[in-house]
Amino acid sequence: MTPQQQQTLIDSAIAARGNAYAPYSNFLVGAALLTDNGGVVAGANVENASYGLTLCAERVAAGAAVAAGARGIVAVAVATEGGAAPCGACRQFLNEFGSAMTVLCVDSASGRVTREVLLSELLPESFGPAALGGTRRP
Ligand code: THU
Repeated sequence: MTPQQQQTLIDSAIAARGNAYAPYSNFLVGAALLTDNGGVVAGANVENASYGLTLCAERVAAGAAVAAGARGIVAVAVATEGGAAPCGACRQFLNEFGSAMTVLCVDSASGRVTREVLLSELLPESFGPAALGGTRRP
């Protein structure tokens, strides 16, 4: 990932956060993915009156990336107040598309990266496609 790509990811995550639908928690999250074909795809959290149906920003972004044809993710930027790390469910969901991806936690107010870490460090000994024999459908 080039410095320019990293800055684009950060900017995209912060912009997407502005579209978050989070009337219940008021915790706005934006995520932006760099796919292995060089594309950038963003998402935001989408809450629901039936709380448990809430979609996290990372999973919204990953779903959009797959729908756009991507199958590999190189990096993800997650923008929140304070620069929080992705939740456990999102770590697992992202792992499907690249355990070696770089995770950038971004403080939305300053745009600063609070943490840069590999997904494999956030989700050690993960369960992934290889556990199913590597027989992945397209
Ligand atoms: N949330 C995300 O979008 N991503 C995470 O990794 C953690 C949590 C959202 C879900 C909910 O809308 C709000 O943040 C508070 O949990």
